[in-house]
Amino acid sequence: MNVENVRRDFPLYERRFNGSPPIYTDSACVTLKPNQVIGAMSRYYREFPACAGRSSHALGREVSEEVKRAREAVRKFIGAGRPEEVIFTRNTTEGINLVANSLKLGNGDAVLTSDKEHNSGLVPFLLLEKKGVRHKTFQFGDLGDFEKKLTGDVKLVSTAITSNLDGTSQPAKEMAALAHGNGSLVLLDGAQAVPNRKTSVKELDADFLAFSGHKMLGPSGTGALYGKLDFLKALNPFMVGGGTVKNSTQEDFEMEDVPERFEAGLQDYAGILGLAEAVKYLQRIGMENVERHEQELNGYLSKGLAGPGMAILGDADPKSRGGVISFNIEGIHHHEVAGILHESANIMIRSGMHCAHSWFNSHSMDGSARISLYLYNTKEECDAIIEAIGKIKRLI
Ligand SMILES: Cc1ncc(COP(=O)(O)O)c(C=O)c1O
Repeated sequence: MNVENVRRDFPLYERRFNGSPPIYTDSACVTLKPNQVIGAMSRYYREFPACAGRSSHALGREVSEEVKRAREAVRKFIGAGRPEEVIFTRNTTEGINLVANSLKLGNGDAVLTSDKEHNSGLVPFLLLEKKGVRHKTFQFGDLGDFEKKLTGDVKLVSTAITSNLDGTSQPAKEMAALAHGNGSLVLLDGAQAVPNRKTSVKELDADFLAFSGHKMLGPSGTGALYGKLDFLKALNPFMVGGGTVKNSTQEDFEMEDVPERFEAGLQDYAGILGLAEAVKYLQRIGMENVERHEQELNGYLSKGLAGPGMAILGDADPKSRGGVISFNIEGIHHHEVAGILHESANIMIRSGMHCAHSWFNSHSMDGSARISLYLYNTKEECDAIIEAIGKIKRLI
């Protein structure tokens, strides 16, 4: 992978902040967008700005065809068997909420999540507690604890493959096998996994997988939910309306097929086409190359940052943290670290609780500074980060 060539595809690098290009390391939140993705969105608006699956005129037919191709591109990317198993959503949050609210869970059923979920993987299930659904937690990454908590009442295991808080991952395949042995369904939150390494729903044997396009070069507010066809057919769609029914009377309606029955109302076609282009871009680069690049940079940066006063969250081995370095520096608040890095060297990072408040609260911490690297980051940028953080440490 030639990073310099990759960077030429990203127009943001043409911008200057105090005379220099930005050092963007907040990709676990949102990634930059290449020209190819921007082009695909613009093509929709320029060439066929119509709606899919409804109008039979030329533009309607074209956009329907493009959406079909986009669904196929996403199917291929995640190794799903059939395109109908891919539902377009706005983001991971919508995918998780869709499953949480469409499964027939009720009194006496339990949902098992880890103790390190993003709010999007936790709050939908806290809300279900009001309907009598129990919510249980296991320690993220601890298979022994997972097995212990996997009791007969657990109808759904819902958990992140990779934590956005510190970049560590769980043995999702083994967990899925254990859950299935217990008769539980498995919903994997792939928000931090799908963008960063090869993820195959077949290999994982996931029943559902939710992920976001904007964390993998795609447009903001795009994502997908994978579901095994039989399970999708058995769900009760929780959001219905235009596009989700074949027919209706004043009294009743006939449901559309899967996946359309889950895609209520007019969709973000430009976003869907942009997402397909993002997926193709990543496939051209090769997910093995993306993963290796992140690991190499993380190894280099973690080594450069190590030293007195620096506490890196998660596994000590940077190889286990993908492109994420979540840290605190003794004697200075993480928000201040983020502010100084931005002011002094155009380094854009995230600070706070990263929407994983529950984990930080249970560890009596108020957050961390988080650097998240992606395919466009360079060793030179890591050098600039090491130098800027060195200066901060000398100032304390
Ligand atoms: C692990 C994880 N799950 C869920 C989400 C929610 O993603 P979105 O806001 O795109 O729905 C995120 C976002 O950072 C995440 O990192």
